[in-house]
Amino acid sequence: MADVRIRVRPNGPFLVEGPIELFDSEGNAFELNPDKPAIALCRCGESKNRPFCDGAHKSCGFDSDERAS
Ligand code: FES
Repeated sequence: MADVRIRVRPNGPFLVEGPIELFDSEGNAFELNPDKPAIALCRCGESKNRPFCDGAHKSCGFDSDERAS
């Protein structure tokens, strides 16, 4: 079993659980709260706090629920 788990939330973010580091396009690390069990990464593009989800997907009509099989 992998140490990191990424789950696709229906019509919402990627939920990333486990020990990760997150970097921007210039290689600078985002500060992550080590006490939080997971982070949510925006998938809809409407968050005001990208790359993190801020809940905007709930009101922008984002519709995406990919399935693995
Ligand atoms: S997925 Fe939540 S704000 Fe984009």
